[in-house]
Amino acid sequence: MYYGADYNPEQWPESVWPEDIVRMREAGVNMVTLGVFAWSRIQPDEDTFDFEWLDRIIELLHDAGIAVDLATATASPPPWATAKYPEILPADENGAAYWPGSRQHYSPSSPAYRRLASRLVTRLVERYAKHPAVVMWHVNNEYGCHLPQDFSDSARDAFRKWLRERYESVDALNEAWGTWFWSQRYTSFEEIYPPRRAPYSHNPCQLLDFRRFTSDAMLDCFRMEKSIIRAAGATQPVTTNFMGPFKPANYWQWASELDVISDDCYPDPNDPESFRTSAFARDLMRSLKPDTPWVLMEQSTSALNWRPSNAPKAPGQMAALSIQAVARGADGVMFFQWRQSRAGAEKFHSAMLPHAGTGTRTWSEVVQLGADLGSLPQLPAGAMDARVAIVVDWENWWAVENPDHPVEFDYLAQVQRWYGVFHRQNIQVDFVHPSAALDHYQLVVAPHLYLLRSADAANLAGFVDDGGHLLVTAFSDVVDENDQFRPGGYLTQLGSVLGVALEDFGALVPPGSSGPGRKSARVRFEEEAFNGTYFAEQIQTAGAEVLARFTSGYNEGAPALTRNHAGAGQAWYLATVPDSSGLGLLIGQVLDAAGVKPVLSNLPESVEAIQRGNVLTVINHDDVPAAIDMSGTDLLAGEAVDKVHLGPFGFAFIAGHAGPPNYSAAS
Ligand code: GAL
Repeated sequence: MYYGADYNPEQWPESVWPEDIVRMREAGVNMVTLGVFAWSRIQPDEDTFDFEWLDRIIELLHDAGIAVDLATATASPPPWATAKYPEILPADENGAAYWPGSRQHYSPSSPAYRRLASRLVTRLVERYAKHPAVVMWHVNNEYGCHLPQDFSDSARDAFRKWLRERYESVDALNEAWGTWFWSQRYTSFEEIYPPRRAPYSHNPCQLLDFRRFTSDAMLDCFRMEKSIIRAAGATQPVTTNFMGPFKPANYWQWASELDVISDDCYPDPNDPESFRTSAFARDLMRSLKPDTPWVLMEQSTSALNWRPSNAPKAPGQMAALSIQAVARGADGVMFFQWRQSRAGAEKFHSAMLPHAGTGTRTWSEVVQLGADLGSLPQLPAGAMDARVAIVVDWENWWAVENPDHPVEFDYLAQVQRWYGVFHRQNIQVDFVHPSAALDHYQLVVAPHLYLLRSADAANLAGFVDDGGHLLVTAFSDVVDENDQFRPGGYLTQLGSVLGVALEDFGALVPPGSSGPGRKSARVRFEEEAFNGTYFAEQIQTAGAEVLARFTSGYNEGAPALTRNHAGAGQAWYLATVPDSSGLGLLIGQVLDAAGVKPVLSNLPESVEAIQRGNVLTVINHDDVPAAIDMSGTDLLAGEAVDKVHLGPFGFAFIAGHAGPPNYSAAS
């Protein structure tokens, strides 16, 4: 179990370093991420490298038994680099440069940036590849953070090259992009630009391809650095820090290139529900590389600096959120950063060692958490045994949020709502790509799978055929991978397994917007009713039974929820986006049918329960104590219990809980 933080010793006089080391040991720190933003310190000008300070701090850490996750420092080019090679700078949609003076001001496509970055990494790994203190390599930092897309000339050139490789001929590109529309026919790749500011809507496939290209361009930078690390003979695992569900980078694609997944996660202490979004991020990280523990690479000990209001964490909250990561598959709990900065934009950002010193609540909680993590039982990797999977696909995310659709909605927010219903009920969930092996799951939920490749549709249909329960929601199976309609209407691939046909999307005015028009459609579901939002699709059954109907609007009396028995399984279709009461009702029924159960029931709203192997972790995310009836062995207290008392933000690890399993035979 790693415990530590980003460590930026270059911000401090060397006389402070010995005290850092003493305090790190006191806190139980066993790994630090070193040098994330140290490029200008390591390479003060193009021809000078200064590693001596880095040698000294690595030796100090090593002598103290503290391992190093060595950063490659390529995320913030020094002023000399951008002054000499201004083509490094990225540009916005208008072609205007993002200037130096902050960080992350580089175009991933810039040959000059790549050349300078490779030189830096080459020198760094030559020196430290075999250093016994270095246990991990931390490539760059948060690829895409601050600058989700770069529209510079470097990006233009690289985008053309990328398109040439993807399509081989400009005719193939014209076909994929549907360029007879609006006279967009290209005669050469040289005529193509990134989707810079234009009078009106861009070609949707151009937007989609630019998203693909952007993710690939950043991934190429990662690959470039990783290959330099490997070429130097370094054998340590290589990572780069992800940012939870981050739209610009297709993490499914990235995950296979990382040896260890690591994540930065900053839930807002002002939001009492933020522990659910952090749970979502943790489950996503675990799902990206099942069976391999991931590392919580950054979180805060308390307040941040970058929200309009930066509340401190409540007493105990830092530990509760850290334990949440461990319970959901992490084998490392790290912070940004070790010692609070004295200067710079982040000087109000909390740290393990606060500016106010060691007499603080933060410091005592840091020391306590270090001790707790040190005495934790070994939890088996990847043993969460989730029976529910939620389909997440970055390409779909990009396409479904393209402009000019029946109604705008936030894909991630909807996926998080589905996750939230399961999380509230302590049902364990994995995330899957639509092409993933699904045979382990009893229920697969595919929210708004607008872009659906044929092979993935076949995979989902096969899952039903083999006895699974599939729930597909509105605005799914609409386009192919080029964001074009398929011949034959909508639901052309899943219609037969769902037993429905779709005629119209029935767009509603998004909830919360002030314009005129219908915001919801009433739906009758057994003895209850709920509101449907965003879509009130006009569907007809083609074999499916109707479980709920719209009771208002143009399609009054038409089906809103259907179920089709297909092969050995069942396929459900939901023609709207239910409000929260509707979500609860519906999921209750689907879970019953699929035979999936919570790991623990009847818990207070603020308590989550997670099963990893034979250990149940219960965490209270509120300042009100909670008591839970459950028996087993409390692993931290080392005693048998038949009731677990959780203080404010308290947690417990219970082994051998004799409860029912979290699934049964599907009905
Ligand atoms: C992250 C970043 C860190 C630090 C932190 C502050 O995005 O990787 O360097 O800036 O945010 O919360």
